[in-house]
Amino acid sequence: MTEQPQHIISQLTYQLGRLSAGDALALLANLFPGQVTFSSSFSFEDQVISHFILSKQLPVSIFTLDTGRLFSETYSVWSSTNDRYKTTVKAYYPNQDDLQVFVETHGPNAFYASVDNRKSCCHIRKVEPLKRALAGNKIWVTGLRAEHSAARHDLQQLEWDEGNQVIKYHPILHWTTEEIAAFIKKYNIPYNPLHDRGFVSIGCAPCTRAIQPGEDFRAGRWWWEGADKKECGLHETTRLASPST
Ligand code: ADX
Ligand code: SF4
Repeated sequence: MTEQPQHIISQLTYQLGRLSAGDALALLANLFPGQVTFSSSFSFEDQVISHFILSKQLPVSIFTLDTGRLFSETYSVWSSTNDRYKTTVKAYYPNQDDLQVFVETHGPNAFYASVDNRKSCCHIRKVEPLKRALAGNKIWVTGLRAEHSAARHDLQQLEWDEGNQVIKYHPILHWTTEEIAAFIKKYNIPYNPLHDRGFVSIGCAPCTRAIQPGEDFRAGRWWWEGADKKECGLHETTRLASPST
């Protein structure tokens, strides 16, 4: 991390202090007008953040990465979110040429054949579109939570993403699953019905399964791979850039 973002992060950490997630988002939107964006996968946690933004009409843009392989339930909750908040969540899509070459070379379900194929698929469908979505923004808001995994447990709420050259902010990093569920219920927020069927961490349909009681939060993601490979690259550059996380 260069000196400048480190300095800004220290200042912001002080300013956000003990503010609630909603107030912190409002402050950031005020400090960085037109340069705060939130990535939503329409997960339980992302719906909480969308509610903070959309119910208060905060000037924070919201986008999703439509990989083309999402569950139909995910498209339904995207649609209900647009309806409920009278908004249009912006979608970013894979580069058509890159996707076509990849699928023609390796087949439509190449991700099961090797970790390299899987990472290439994630790169084309998520990581590269993310770069386009983040361009021009200073703050990237995410729904990452400490409970998700050991790697995420030690994250800071504000951190520098060297690969994408943005400050990441995780407003509900320390919320528990119970707190998320209670919030969703209290405000009658649309949510992905797969959460009621054992799916806790939801990504693309071919790469996500339900988990059994007692399994790790992310055990249902890329379940055929080792537990050390449960990331798709969206959040990898941050961890590489910061030895403490
Ligand atoms: S992933 O890296 O394993 O795919 P995960 O599903 O845990 O990520 O979600 C963590 C955060 O990454 C979400 O709260 C959201 O901010 C962002 N994210 C993940 N998938 C998407 C997506 N398809 N579109 C937009 N943001 C996403
Ligand atoms: Fe491709 Fe699976 Fe990654 Fe989705 S999660 S981008 S289908 S490898």
